[in-house]
Amino acid sequence: MSSQSTEQSQVKWVMLPRPKRLKGTFASIVLQNIQGHDDWHTLKAPAFYGPKNEWKGVSEESPQTSDELRIISLNSQEIECELEDCSVLTEFGPGDGTKTMEILKLVKNIKLYRMVDEDESAMWKLAARITKLYPRLYIECWQGPFESAPSYATNNRLHLGHALSLGSTLFNNSPEVNNKLMRDLAPITNKIIIGQDGNTDEHSVRSSYTTPAFHNFIEKGRDRLDEMLNSIDRNLGRQVLKNEGWQSNVRIVHEPAFHVVWQLVATKAMDFIFHEDSPGEQKRVRIKKNTELNIFKAYKYNQQSIDVMAAQAGYDRSATYVASKTGSCLHILVPLRDDMVTRVTTVEDIDVQDPRRLKIETLHLSF
Ligand SMILES: C[S@@+](CC[C@H](N)C(=O)[O-])C[C@H]1O[C@@H](n2cnc3c(N)ncnc32)[C@H](O)[C@@H]1O
Repeated sequence: MSSQSTEQSQVKWVMLPRPKRLKGTFASIVLQNIQGHDDWHTLKAPAFYGPKNEWKGVSEESPQTSDELRIISLNSQEIECELEDCSVLTEFGPGDGTKTMEILKLVKNIKLYRMVDEDESAMWKLAARITKLYPRLYIECWQGPFESAPSYATNNRLHLGHALSLGSTLFNNSPEVNNKLMRDLAPITNKIIIGQDGNTDEHSVRSSYTTPAFHNFIEKGRDRLDEMLNSIDRNLGRQVLKNEGWQSNVRIVHEPAFHVVWQLVATKAMDFIFHEDSPGEQKRVRIKKNTELNIFKAYKYNQQSIDVMAAQAGYDRSATYVASKTGSCLHILVPLRDDMVTRVTTVEDIDVQDPRRLKIETLHLSF
């Protein structure tokens, strides 16, 4: 793709539907977590990511960021070939877009760049940045949780083209959740390009999740979780997760998949009263001393576990690019099409003229 400067571009904004689970009461969500169903898909993404959060500091100091940039630069020719037939690129969680800008240099035939992210302001900034360099490129911003994107695309008969996600972002889930995500994506993607940290050295993993930047990230997330949970429960200013009855703990879990967990451990028994959905109904929840809440997890999938996940979800790992010994890799996963009709995406698939069909707002940006 050649770059030019421009004054105006077209960006489409899509608000992804939010899964219904968030409508549960605070009590039910906390209880689910205590009982071990602790993939807080819907809750954790908006709580930890967004303009008021601190993920940027974590990204900037992460060795994975420099590793992935090196992978892209050292393997630029190969990655360019991987992207040769890419007219639609859908990126999950581009963040500040530093890596996106490097990838875009390698996609020569792109017509549409689509990003899926919770962070509205990061997407606006990145859209502006991309537009300046690539004025003819259609840009779509899908705001909301990753897990809503496949069904939104499927229901609206949209193809995601090449799916990209860097910085261990899209697969930061248990293998079961990733399996569902990959199966949902298989019919609507040509390939998944995934940057994944596979470092399973306990000592180095622990040290990278106990830095001041990571501490700030967690603290801001705890603030937001309290805000969100209080709003579900129609309470104001209540300190549930931010109170002094919790102590932080970082735990490394090996099975069934290697991950690091940031936990809150109750230092005393705590009672909370939660409102239930029907007016007047309340539930008292006693959190016992030593109760553990897993508030954030980071999964580390090495090449072998990527292979297992890929095979179980019906994909083939067609290539892996590596830059160093730290465990950061860029994998190319291709859905096996035996039982599927392959559909090649062109930009004409996206009906840019009919906002009713996509239920989207079309916005014109001037820079
Ligand atoms: C740690 S940053 C990674 C940014 C970039 N990919 C990189 O490698 O530097 C994670 C990004 O994904 C977004 N994000 C993380 N989990 C998400 C989810 N479940 N749904 C929507 N956005 C999510 C965050 O808002 C943020 O922009």
